[in-house]
Amino acid sequence: MTRVVYRVERSIVLVGMMGAGKTAVGRQMASRLGLPFVDSDGEIETSSGMTISEIFSRLGEPDFREMETATLSKFLSGDPLVMSVGGGAFIRKVNRRLIRQHGTSVWLKPSLETVWERVRNNRKRPLIQVEDPRAELSRLLRERNPVYAKADIRVHTSNDRTVSAMAKAVITMLVRMDGSGLSVVPAAESRQDSDHSGRDRTG
Ligand code: S3P
Repeated sequence: MTRVVYRVERSIVLVGMMGAGKTAVGRQMASRLGLPFVDSDGEIETSSGMTISEIFSRLGEPDFREMETATLSKFLSGDPLVMSVGGGAFIRKVNRRLIRQHGTSVWLKPSLETVWERVRNNRKRPLIQVEDPRAELSRLLRERNPVYAKADIRVHTSNDRTVSAMAKAVITMLVRMDGSGLSVVPAAESRQDSDHSGRDRTG
């Protein structure tokens, strides 16, 4: 089997609504690319010792947003990695600037139906613990989609596409995109000198 060696010069940041599959797809991409994976919500929960719901109820959303920006800044300023960020992260301008500076953004774009199917029985998302969560999701999608559209690339996601198919599709798109920072090292070059820069990864 031929092993593909990737050259990774920038981080890859998955953005989009809750339920888009950012964490599952991001983890799978990181494993294929041989990169570390960071989930911003997971990091915030670990460093604060609280769940996202607890942070929202005890400290409030503005404090959560500050923690989110600090987490993005900390991880994106280091070596390239794959990062999935909470659904509200890309909506803040300061975060978009950080992501643009250090990485390539990928919008996983689900329909309302896909998102609703995935989050309807989940109590962990404070923004939709409201009387009519479906209407709130619809409102959030309408409000946020024009901002998510500023991401470098967009990939439609639905319940028909597996995590693995999504991860492969995103990697292929990034490799084809000029300036994404992700490329395939030609076989001859990778045989001679596979880790000369410390950044080439075998996937
Ligand atoms: C949020 C999405 C959540 C989490 C928080 C706020 C949002 O992350 O960051 O509940 O504003 O859409 P996921 O997108 O991973 O669910």
